Amino acid sequence: MTDSPSSLLIDPLRLHALLGDAQGRFDVDSLAECESTNTLLLERAAQGAPTGSVIVADRQTAGRGSRGRRWLAAPGASLTFSVLWRFDGGLERLAGLSLAVGVAVVHALDCCGATGMLLKWPNDILHDNAKLGGILVELQSAPDGALAVIGIGLNLSLPASPGECEGFALPPAALDEIFSPLPERHALFAQLLIELAHVFDRFAQGGFAAVRDQWQTRNAWQDRPVQVLRDGHLEKEGVCRGADVDGALLVQTAAGVERCLSGDLSLRAP
Ligand code: BTN
Repeated sequence: MTDSPSSLLIDPLRLHALLGDAQGRFDVDSLAECESTNTLLLERAAQGAPTGSVIVADRQTAGRGSRGRRWLAAPGASLTFSVLWRFDGGLERLAGLSLAVGVAVVHALDCCGATGMLLKWPNDILHDNAKLGGILVELQSAPDGALAVIGIGLNLSLPASPGECEGFALPPAALDEIFSPLPERHALFAQLLIELAHVFDRFAQGGFAAVRDQWQTRNAWQDRPVQVLRDGHLEKEGVCRGADVDGALLVQTAAGVERCLSGDLSLRAP
């Protein structure tokens, strides 16, 4: 079954039927509009929402990207949702979670036929060096451990006006350039949740180390020359050697293999 970018909201009952073994693990609230699914889910988490709570919105009026940036998407043009997951232990055990989520997303896309999508440290999903989607993980301590609100935005189609994409570090990509026609969005969303549940289970047992090898095979710039920028300034230059067990980026420089915990990564011109 196929879907068009203009079709309406996710139907939680229809989604539920597609979740297979993960059926009991998610409780999905589907909204026509909210400011930001991450912001709303953080509020619900503070009020005690359980692990597996999900908000999916057709439109966000104040969608948020990483490092305080905005996340823009026209109604129906993207799959935008957030998942609340609660973990045992302190916040330090959640290092690298955003990279692990990337692994779940590319596996879900593989299952839906969009094989071989790549990941750009720390939170971009790439198709042909263009940005297909992004991940925003927000962490908080909780009385009984730690919680993560995991926001994912996947472009289904590109904006009609290219001006909306000006100033982005990477050109945008959309699933309708890869699939023709687009997969039915409930099937795609269900697959994403199934893979997320699987990765959360592995992460809860072994942290990012449990999926690190899979991340490295999808690292867009593995063993390629890179520059790491912070606030627009060059911080490190070297060869990308993947990610450490805590998710830190490893860059081989003249001084040896160095760790980066934050910054923007760009491919260095040969
Ligand atoms: C990025 O690439 O900068 C991360 C983008 C994350 C966007 C998603 S859309 C669903 C969720 N709600 C938000 O406000 N942001 C995330």
